[in-house]
Amino acid sequence: MRIDILTVVPDLLTSWFGESILQRARKKGLVEVHVHDLRNWSLDKHRRVDDYPFGGGAGMVMQVEPIARAIAELRAQRSYDEVIYLSPDGQLLDQPLANMLSSVGNMILLCGHYKGVDERVREHLITKEVSIGNYVLTGGELAAAVLSDAVIRLIPGVIGDETSALSDSFQDGLLAPPDYTRPADYQGWKVPDVLLSGHQAKVDAWRYEQALERTRQRRPELLGGKDGTEGS
Ligand code: ADE
Repeated sequence: MRIDILTVVPDLLTSWFGESILQRARKKGLVEVHVHDLRNWSLDKHRRVDDYPFGGGAGMVMQVEPIARAIAELRAQRSYDEVIYLSPDGQLLDQPLANMLSSVGNMILLCGHYKGVDERVREHLITKEVSIGNYVLTGGELAAAVLSDAVIRLIPGVIGDETSALSDSFQDGLLAPPDYTRPADYQGWKVPDVLLSGHQAKVDAWRYEQALERTRQRRPELLGGKDGTEGS
């Protein structure tokens, strides 16, 4: 997978992608992330990529031209499955969307700034608009980092134990069950006996029950009838 990120503040993202799991994924050759400064495609001598909105009003709008030139240049070099604009107006990022995106080949992530982009970018240049939550950030960079993290960790081989991505919260529509590690008894705080029993079927059944109960208590809307409650 290759991710190309278009932003006016590349420094915000290069340090993020130089660290942790994402760096390991890059070193293993499982993903390439390229952060580009949109100003490189500006035609303006001051490298501006924004301008005043037609019709007046507060705030600046990101121009269609530098964005179109950037996307065209990238598309001329390879094919992209998705060109995603990060915006609070987009489809809410959730685990099924992250799963879907982890199986695409290449994608371009466009980070908005200021008031947002010229509407023609949305109409002609992007394939999807994604939001990371019902709140407004100052720019799409954090959202691009969140989306990339959620997607990259699902690529087989990126995290050590492949099954652990599959047992994440949300992966089966439930929150994850509790985990414990040694010591089995910490000053009287005990690990549930079933986990020490060595009986895998019982452990699995306990984990499922715990996941269901935790979801029922904390995020009942995720159940959607799974336990017969229709999310109530
Ligand atoms: N840009 C600004 N706010 C955003 C959000 N909530 N999600 C994605 N991109 C954004």
